[in-house]
Amino acid sequence: MKCDFDEVISRKGTGCVKFDCPEVGDRLPLWVADMDFATPDFILDAIKERLEHPVMGYPFVPENYYRVILEWVKSIHDWDVAPEHIRYIPGIVKGIGMVLSCFFREPGVESQRVKVIIQPPVYHPFRILPQKNGFEVVCNPLLPVEQDGKLVGYRMDFDGLEKLIDEDTKVLILSNPHNPAGICWPKEELQELAHLCVKKGVLVISDEIHAEMALKGYRHYPFASVSEEAAACSITFMAPSKTFNIAGIVSSYTVVPNPELRDKFFAYLDSNEFDNPSIFSTVATLAAYTKGREWRAGMLEYVEGNIDFVEEFIRDRIPQISILRPQASFLVWLDLRPLGLEHDRLVELVQDKAGLYLNDGAMFGEQGTGFFRLNVGCPKSVLKEAMEKLECAINA
Ligand SMILES: Cc1ncc(COP(=O)(O)O)c(C=O)c1O
Repeated sequence: MKCDFDEVISRKGTGCVKFDCPEVGDRLPLWVADMDFATPDFILDAIKERLEHPVMGYPFVPENYYRVILEWVKSIHDWDVAPEHIRYIPGIVKGIGMVLSCFFREPGVESQRVKVIIQPPVYHPFRILPQKNGFEVVCNPLLPVEQDGKLVGYRMDFDGLEKLIDEDTKVLILSNPHNPAGICWPKEELQELAHLCVKKGVLVISDEIHAEMALKGYRHYPFASVSEEAAACSITFMAPSKTFNIAGIVSSYTVVPNPELRDKFFAYLDSNEFDNPSIFSTVATLAAYTKGREWRAGMLEYVEGNIDFVEEFIRDRIPQISILRPQASFLVWLDLRPLGLEHDRLVELVQDKAGLYLNDGAMFGEQGTGFFRLNVGCPKSVLKEAMEKLECAINA
């Protein structure tokens, strides 16, 4: 199997957000959460094979599509999902919008007051999407965990959450594993969250797009699998898109064990035809989940090596800053606060002096100010160049 993660592939001019977005300019982009590795051959070959047939009419969901997903979910997460609990959705951010519309926008009811809880620092569309749709977003910030003055993790603030919930707070969006901090939430923490949400009647949307990328020594727990309460109060979203670098193909799915939530949500998906996958989404998912085990293992090993590289580089050459080592996925949370610079000066340092385009931590909530999110899903030579640029800018 060909999987040369060291190969530098030019993506400029391919219409990709990461390189072609005008703000990036000529900076080295290590931001948007897709990887610079080639999508694996077995997926590209499956798509090419479908392209051999010249008719691209309406697709029918292949008979084995859901079965293959269930088998994969069982083998990766040891989670038993019933075939009738799963449906295709056209993207996870869109899925969040669909849940909000389906459950909290009753036709004809104009002025529903619904508050959406997020736990920043967290993936910014969790805030932006509800706000743009007229929902109020309330924050229960994660609590930093520190050792010797260094950030080593975050935990959920259950006291804060309990106080925050009132009769209007109806839904919480969970990033599991967590983006941007790369946390694989411990089972007990998810169980406690579920307990509180059931007690308070809060629906949990569990975004598990990075679920297949738990790193060495860590395990991802699908939220709905941790307890009966969690299964009862949640709608889960998963996808092969991050793991196999096929975000542009759009191939996500939802799992809903609770029959009442499921009936309502699946009827909504069905009536809007949102659960009709495109030809290529089923082709890509089937190829990924039937042929992708070896590639996934190799990719995770490479990503882990890149994280080691960044950790060692910072320890040896820019010890003024630190990293929160991710437990899942290819996003690294860099802590630049010890440099003691104001936010705008830090952005100037990273973007103008170092010439890097990273995600400014402040976009994930004010708690992210002073941090940057570095995407290490790239060839090691590119990462080395980026770290050297950062070193030069900081040490200058
Ligand atoms: C936590 C998280 N959720 C959702 C998405 C986007 O998912 P989709 O492209 O399916 O909307 C991303 C992409 O970066 C992400 O990191």
